[in-house]
Amino acid sequence: MVAHAVKLAPSILTADFGRLQEEILAAEHGGADLIHLDVMDGRFVPSITFGPLVVDAVHRITQLPLDVHLMIEEPERYLELFAKAGASIITVHLEACLHLHRAVQQIVDLGCQVGVALNPSTPIEEIREIAPFVDQVLVMSVNPGFGGQRFIQTMTSKLRRTRKLLDEFNPTCDLEVDGGIGVGNIRDALRNGANVIVVGSAVYNSGASVSENLAALREACSA
Ligand code: DX5
Ligand code: ZN
Repeated sequence: MVAHAVKLAPSILTADFGRLQEEILAAEHGGADLIHLDVMDGRFVPSITFGPLVVDAVHRITQLPLDVHLMIEEPERYLELFAKAGASIITVHLEACLHLHRAVQQIVDLGCQVGVALNPSTPIEEIREIAPFVDQVLVMSVNPGFGGQRFIQTMTSKLRRTRKLLDEFNPTCDLEVDGGIGVGNIRDALRNGANVIVVGSAVYNSGASVSENLAALREACSA
């Protein structure tokens, strides 16, 4: 069996955008492995966040790889802009792509790693044909659109089943989980096969500093 490195990917969605540089450097110095950037268009999901301009700004702030999660319709139209802005991994939603294989190929051709995301209600069988072509599968454990939502419990078994499918069709593929992860359930997510863990409100909140929160999450991984 392939050993997959555990990676923490703080999402800046609940960070203070007035102090974005500080917030990102705090994650980098606190031991984050990736910075997760949630791009929302107000159509695929209700919220609007930011586009390539902010991705480019973040790229100039940090050395960390940028994990760009596109929650937008017709992502094919914007892939080149996000690649140029410095994305390391570009993830598109399966539900947003009529020609998913073409979008995946475009991302590869742009020189980025490629991820495919699934909404909570999308059956994992739908990734069977695309699985051999991707570097990462992202299982949404909340409905996309907002930070700070509660983890949907049935997504634990979905993670397990997704890892099993990937072990069959693309064993080196990373499995990312996104939404509602904190110290109370991070270990469970790892045990069930996730290895790239998005953490938004568990990192950026008013309760403790970014580095304290990241340290607590690291500890919870092995607790
Ligand atoms: C939700 C986003 C997530 C979210 C994670 O649509 O994709 O990345 O910001 O935030 P938490 O960890 O607070 O659920
Ligand atoms: Zn995300």
